[in-house]
Amino acid sequence: MADPKTPTSGRGTDPRIVFRLFVTVGLAVALIGALWSLADGSAAAGPRGEGKAAGIAMPAAAKSLPQVMLRAVRAANPCAEPAVQTALASGGDDAVVAAFGGGAAFRAAVAAGNAPCINLGDPTRDWLVVNKARPLAPLTFAPASLSEPALIAEDSAGPVRSDVAQALDKLSAGAAAAGVGRIGLGSGYRSYDTQVQTYSGQVQMYGRVQGDALSARPGHSEHQTGMAADVVSCARNCGGINDFGDTSGGAWVAQNAWQYGFIVRYVAGQTPVTGYDPEPWHLRYIGVPLATAYHDGGFTTLEQFFGLPAAPSYPG
Ligand code: DAL
Ligand code: ZN
Repeated sequence: MADPKTPTSGRGTDPRIVFRLFVTVGLAVALIGALWSLADGSAAAGPRGEGKAAGIAMPAAAKSLPQVMLRAVRAANPCAEPAVQTALASGGDDAVVAAFGGGAAFRAAVAAGNAPCINLGDPTRDWLVVNKARPLAPLTFAPASLSEPALIAEDSAGPVRSDVAQALDKLSAGAAAAGVGRIGLGSGYRSYDTQVQTYSGQVQMYGRVQGDALSARPGHSEHQTGMAADVVSCARNCGGINDFGDTSGGAWVAQNAWQYGFIVRYVAGQTPVTGYDPEPWHLRYIGVPLATAYHDGGFTTLEQFFGLPAAPSYPG
């Protein structure tokens, strides 16, 4: 007679054996999942976060998660990731964003308060946010490397940050190739002292309230970082900034500037957030990865993008 604990063919399966099988398989699945999480955490911060540790398969359920969620799961503390630390220490801004897993992941981490290593007040970084509530530090900051783009539309335009000049040249060539004419620089870098004159000129002409809606106070302007460019349309002759929004070049820039790393910083409808009247001509360079995330996410202010409060007026 067969041992009653040993199942025999054709006589059904002992429930205790089935239970043990379930427990064993369950433990194995949990172990593989935990190993994958541990191993993948360090690789997730590689370029675009698509790399992962060799030899450990990604669970099918995790594969189906949206990329942004996946990165959050993989790297709950992105600033602790070696790739992020290396990029921050020695890489360019694009490399830092890539180490976070791309522009959308970078934005999500910053907006969630999960990226203390990212200083939105650093005036040398593409992710700087300067507004009426966030002065430049130092107030008289000046960028290190400035160059002129190819098409200067105003004698007083000045240079912009060197990488921004290159991006502007590409944008201008893109506009010309699209048949809307080249894009010229009307005003780029403005020092603290120049901004003193720009701002006081507007206040003298229009009064303090309207002046504040048109011009930043010294130490609060993106122009002082070399990352802002007031652009004009140069289809035949170059026009001015005030008619830029009504030109085909202006329409093209509004649609396509992100591909070159720029956003239109002060758009219609966002004065309660930015504190400025709409300026379709004022482009702010934030780099292609962040500008792509900004465009793809449908953002219209940098404040929203990084989860910062509205800054319609100066404190005090
Ligand atoms: N016109 C913009 C707000 C500036 O002065 O920076
Ligand atoms: Zn401007």
